[in-house]
Amino acid sequence: MKTPRWSDVTPEALYLNRRQIMAGAAALSLAPQLARAEALTPNTYEEITGYNNYYEFGTGKEDPAANASMLTTSPWTVKVDGMVDKPGDYDLGELLTGLTVEERIYRFRCVEAWSMVIPWQGVTLASLLNKIGVQSGAKYVAFETLVRPEEMPGQKMGILEWPYREGLRLDEAMHPLTLLATGIYGKPMPNQNGAPIRLVVPWKYGFKGVKAIVRISLTDQMPQTTWNMMAANEYGFYANVNPTVDHPRWSQASERLIGAGLLAGRQDTLMFNGYGDEVASLYAGMDLAVNY
Ligand code: MTE
Repeated sequence: MKTPRWSDVTPEALYLNRRQIMAGAAALSLAPQLARAEALTPNTYEEITGYNNYYEFGTGKEDPAANASMLTTSPWTVKVDGMVDKPGDYDLGELLTGLTVEERIYRFRCVEAWSMVIPWQGVTLASLLNKIGVQSGAKYVAFETLVRPEEMPGQKMGILEWPYREGLRLDEAMHPLTLLATGIYGKPMPNQNGAPIRLVVPWKYGFKGVKAIVRISLTDQMPQTTWNMMAANEYGFYANVNPTVDHPRWSQASERLIGAGLLAGRQDTLMFNGYGDEVASLYAGMDLAVNY
């Protein structure tokens, strides 16, 4: 199987060009259907890599860009364990061999009510799960971030319980939109965004997108997740983007698009972050105010 190389994906200049064209179109208030395309005009590389949440490197938005370069991301080993046919400690390259790197431009919505549009490269989590062989009876996938306090200074502080942990229900993990991302704008994943590999689940709040993954476990128990452990009444396991279910301390009805400018104002939050056609059926019959 041919794996696309970085040079096969759209060069950054092309995205930027399209971004300028779309911004121009919006300014001239062209046809309303352009509004949707405009909403998917990617943020700049500088915005995506300069405004981050990554508490292993500090709690400020600029701390990850300032501190994450010290993290060694090669070699990188990922432990695969639990209810899988092929458990083991895999070198990352070996784990990804044979999987197709795809480009996905996704809306990204942080639970703090800011958003971006990010052009990711990565493999579907489904393709990786199929490679390692999920055993019958497995119901969830759990993920862990690296623990290495000497390179991750935030881990010397008790801000969160380390390792950072996340999890998905197996059907969410197998959904074709769910990505293990390895790059942005055709460049290898920047350290501050979760190098060398991080999770991207576009219909969920950004905290589900665990960075610097070193462990993937298949289990029949709903895994513990970092923010839920920290404040269960504020951060649920599901964390689906939902304009009608507010965070206890702020509204989720609208969001601030990073880079839109001071005069742009807030934009409406979209149900499932705009991916409802693809994912709403996963939650049929569930009360999303209870399962937040
Ligand atoms: N993963 C780890 N290991 N540590 C973190 O602090 N923050 C999460 C998520 N993944 C976080 C993490 C949160 S709150 C968000 S919004 C996204 O990463 C931010 O991703 P970005 O910096 O690439 O925009």
